Amino acid sequence: MNDSIDVVTFYDEHPINLSEILGKAESNGLSLDSLTAADLWEWDQDHYGGLEAVDALAESLGIKKGSRVIDLCCGLGGPARYLATTIDCSVHGVDLNQTRVDGATELTRLVKLNDQVSFSEANVCELPMADGTFDIAMSQEAFLHIEDRESLLAECHRVLCRGGRLGFTDWIADEALNAAHRKRFSDTFAASRIVSVAEYKTLLSDAGFRIESITDLSDQWRTILVERLGMFRSLEKETVAKFGQERHNTYISNYEFFVERITETDLGGARIVAIAL
Ligand SMILES: C[S@@+](CC[C@H](N)C(=O)[O-])C[C@H]1O[C@@H](n2cnc3c(N)ncnc32)[C@H](O)[C@@H]1O
Repeated sequence: MNDSIDVVTFYDEHPINLSEILGKAESNGLSLDSLTAADLWEWDQDHYGGLEAVDALAESLGIKKGSRVIDLCCGLGGPARYLATTIDCSVHGVDLNQTRVDGATELTRLVKLNDQVSFSEANVCELPMADGTFDIAMSQEAFLHIEDRESLLAECHRVLCRGGRLGFTDWIADEALNAAHRKRFSDTFAASRIVSVAEYKTLLSDAGFRIESITDLSDQWRTILVERLGMFRSLEKETVAKFGQERHNTYISNYEFFVERITETDLGGARIVAIAL
């Protein structure tokens, strides 16, 4: 494949989407009129490791009742609804993709969490919020899409109150990931910049953060991603009905390449938590 995919198209053609989630709910006998947030948890978490990964991130961030949380690159808002329900914090999710924001808003309306959870369309490198609006900024499996990591981290710092925490999980790679493989990730996953832990240390320090913890998730992800590949294969019928056979086949072969890179250990993952000075 020579044409590179842009990040909005990548998520507009993603196997996990609003109609797929609602279809799963209905085929499991749930009525859309009486859905709860918990009813959706099996399907609405678009990151690696499901609810356990959200719990681990929330714990390392010290999210508590009443915390003001921003979920950067929130997708369909699964983690936002989960945290609002389990911790009783308020969460605002931001995403570049209007279809994702509309989907997140609709799912949140259906489970009646609109008072605590809201969403808006924005580029996280240019956030429309005032300085110091949030106690916590979080993100899962999204920063890989953002080339301008300097502006992203500067914006995270700006919208956090001093002493607020930023925590995220992200793809990690050093020079072991070669240029051809980086290009393939950029072209097929819109993964425009994959940085190393050492680069993150510099980027975070330059943006005014002090790192609190760095947890290598690579071993966990190896197992999780093989299972996730199986999950995407099992969504063939829904993906083909919505986007066609070619998109399904392309998605699966790209995901196989992703799993191969993780298995070969030239790509990994980490959870990083930092405090805004
Ligand atoms: C893997 S999804 C994350 C979903 C969500 N974190 C979850 O766990 O369910 C990545 C999201 O990042 C969003 N995204 C990518 N670049 C962005 C940017 N510059 N600003 C805002 N959102 C962005 C995409 O539109 C996509 O919805």
